[in-house]
Amino acid sequence: MNRSIMTFVLLLVFGFAAAAYAADVSEGKALFQGEKYKCYTCHGKDGAGGTSAPGFKGASKKYSQSEMMKRAAHNCPPTGACNPKELEAIVSYLRTI
Ligand code: HEC
Repeated sequence: MNRSIMTFVLLLVFGFAAAAYAADVSEGKALFQGEKYKCYTCHGKDGAGGTSAPGFKGASKKYSQSEMMKRAAHNCPPTGACNPKELEAIVSYLRTI
């Protein structure tokens, strides 16, 4: 394959990956602030923390994505039964805070 076609294909692949990630983050934000899981009721609308639960600023430096998913599962209805794809999207959003 010639070099410029190779570059084009690589850019295309990374472009799609970036777009998928962005969709995940905005979907996660909507889920975090939504009524299905009600995460915002304890953690604050923007994940900055509430009166009874911590905020997420800097959490991405403390925990890996999978550690954070384990910690986030505490309030899935019923506990621990979050839809894994949705939980992943929520955590991707929390890691941007
Ligand atoms: C009923 C209140 C409440 C709700 C609703 C709630 N949380 Fe929490 N959450 C807490 C409290 C309190 C803590 C701190 C104690 C602990 O780690 O269990 C916490 C801790 C966390 C942590 C670990 C943070 C850290 O720095 O250790 C994550 C991640 C998290 N919650 C995510 C979520 C997500 C995602 C949702 C929605 C699916 C959610 N929480 C819903 C009360 C809540």
